[in-house]
Amino acid sequence: MEIFILKTAEEASRIAGRFVNEAIKKNPKTVLGLATGSTPLMLYKEMYTACQAGLDYSQVRSFNLDEYYGLDPQHPQSYRRFMNENLFNHLNIDINNTRVPDGLAKDCAAACAQYEADMKAAGGVDIQVLGIGSDGHIGFNEPGSSLVSRTRLVTLTPQTIRDNARFFEKEEDVPRYAVSMGVGTVMEAKTCLMLCFGANKAKAVKGMIEGGISQFNPASALQMHPHTLVFLDEAAAADLELKDYYRWASEHPATL
Ligand code: F6R
Repeated sequence: MEIFILKTAEEASRIAGRFVNEAIKKNPKTVLGLATGSTPLMLYKEMYTACQAGLDYSQVRSFNLDEYYGLDPQHPQSYRRFMNENLFNHLNIDINNTRVPDGLAKDCAAACAQYEADMKAAGGVDIQVLGIGSDGHIGFNEPGSSLVSRTRLVTLTPQTIRDNARFFEKEEDVPRYAVSMGVGTVMEAKTCLMLCFGANKAKAVKGMIEGGISQFNPASALQMHPHTLVFLDEAAAADLELKDYYRWASEHPATL
């Protein structure tokens, strides 16, 4: 893991955005893995601002991490709708090349297997954008998810249902299930870009970077990933024991 501690989430998102945009400049057929939630919104703005300034996203393909199970893609809280509104509608990407797991699939296991096969056929994910849950989840891989899990139907924890209730009229409206790429699926991305902002992520960030590798904290699997860049703001980095070293190392990178 390479850890970057920036003063603000804006600054971190700018640097992460530059990384994604440079990759697309070099390889216009980049395959992106994408996340929803509040964390990547500024990164997505960096991406569509670059696109509107001329960067070509027309050949980029994408696979989203997850989708609520039981929500129609048109539902205001579906992740398909979130992605269209917060990113895809602002890019010159071909919408048919943007994939979000099917939250209405009747044969969910078959749809999940097909999603994995399609990702493989696309050459695999080049850059996977990730956020972290306050309990260490990535995608909808809650604590207890196998570190070799694949795309599948998962049961949300009461905590995640409570956390996400703010987006629905009432807590009972939050779906109880989701389709999510597995931790093992995420681990196959060539590069992972993990963004974590705010004090409520500090404990999960500490576990991810300095805790033991355990399915109790699914994000900790990234310690075994060959190329993960972690962008933190000061608040999210607050509990890290080695934060002075991470700052020093990012100012003095070992790439000569
Ligand atoms: C959503 C996803 C989740 C979020 C996580 C953090 O696609 O993958 O794991 O990244 O719940 O959410 P925010 O960014 O809203 O704090």
